[in-house]
Amino acid sequence: MKLPIYLDYQATTPCDPRVVEAMLPYFTEHYGNAASRNHKYGWAAEEAVERSREQIAALLGANPKEIVLTSGSTESINLALKGAAEMYSDKGKHIITCQAEHKAVLDVCKHLEQQGFEVTYLQPDKSGRVSLEQVAAALRPDTILVALMWANNEVGTLNPIREIGALCHEKGVLLFTDATQAAGKIPVDVEADHVDMLCLSGHKIYGPKGVGVLYVRRKSPRVRLVAQMDGGGHERGMRSGTLNVPGIVGLGKACELARVELESEAKRCAELRDHLEKRIFSELDFVHLNGNREHRLPNNLNVSFAFVEGESLLMGISDVAVSSGSACTSASLEPSHVLRAMDVGEDLAHSSIRFGVGRFTTREEVDFAADQVIAAVKRLRELSPLYEMAQEGIDLKTVKWQAASH
Ligand SMILES: Cc1ncc(COP(=O)(O)O)c(C=O)c1O
Repeated sequence: MKLPIYLDYQATTPCDPRVVEAMLPYFTEHYGNAASRNHKYGWAAEEAVERSREQIAALLGANPKEIVLTSGSTESINLALKGAAEMYSDKGKHIITCQAEHKAVLDVCKHLEQQGFEVTYLQPDKSGRVSLEQVAAALRPDTILVALMWANNEVGTLNPIREIGALCHEKGVLLFTDATQAAGKIPVDVEADHVDMLCLSGHKIYGPKGVGVLYVRRKSPRVRLVAQMDGGGHERGMRSGTLNVPGIVGLGKACELARVELESEAKRCAELRDHLEKRIFSELDFVHLNGNREHRLPNNLNVSFAFVEGESLLMGISDVAVSSGSACTSASLEPSHVLRAMDVGEDLAHSSIRFGVGRFTTREEVDFAADQVIAAVKRLRELSPLYEMAQEGIDLKTVKWQAASH
């Protein structure tokens, strides 16, 4: 077993060796520019890109012509939201999104607000889910775009995208969905799900980093975007810049593998995740699941361990690579905006850990991680007078705390 055990598959995934193998010739042998029309080097590169486009489209149920290649989800989100807002601003200036979206969406929305757009930030329910009714109630005659993630990156909760998509199409409003965590993990079909734009990143599906996709619907309706990058007019004018051919080849291969193995992998991941969950919940008390038991990714588990501080827990399990709900990037140790939007109390938000299993996770690794986590939580709780009180059945919410008089 290689330590630390990697259980952070929502942050990124290792490249599948089959993906690397497919990419290699495109660095040293077929290194042409896919836009070079006059020689064999260019043709070989273009052919490879078009093959990848087909592999990507097949994963999404899309037409290859609807695939715009980008550097990743962040760029795709910028292009989708800013590009649509600019294109359709004559029609209206209202956008609907959710408080639990990834920062890439939230920050683009903030930017658009500064440009005069109005954004409604729906509050998800306690499990992190937005309902069809909420979207219906927020729609206005001047709404041009609904931007909702398919699967949440922290808690794995799935939004009812198909229902929301049908509603948007009925009302003539565009639906963009951030499928960075969903694509390749759960079935996605842009036709059946009525999605107009969708993004994904290669590195979340065992492909390379720095390459991604924006799916842009071409028919019923035909979505038009204002390009956010000016230049040579690549990608049907929507995204200029020489194509990252090896990266795109890798992304195509990753999509093909994800499509072929989706069902078996989802089943295997769910079994591992359920095993981890069962062990944690049966061997520890005062643990809370953050997310939705029914509507969630097969490979995500987000748990709060009451009476334990997330950062201390992370330090206590240094042989396990996971993420905590408190954003350690910020000096203030602010709890995650997702858990806050879900109304998870401050204490529980600070004690949350996200476990992500994936293609290369083994049962042995999950058991090792479970042993480590369970032992560390028990150890930390031994030092907690609050835990002792809770065990005695004292409801801590009713306790009147007194400041020491000295
Ligand atoms: C849901 C979601 N959206 C967007 C992104 C941004 O992806 P990237 O950093 O590859 O651009 C991520 C990555 O963390 C994500 O999980």
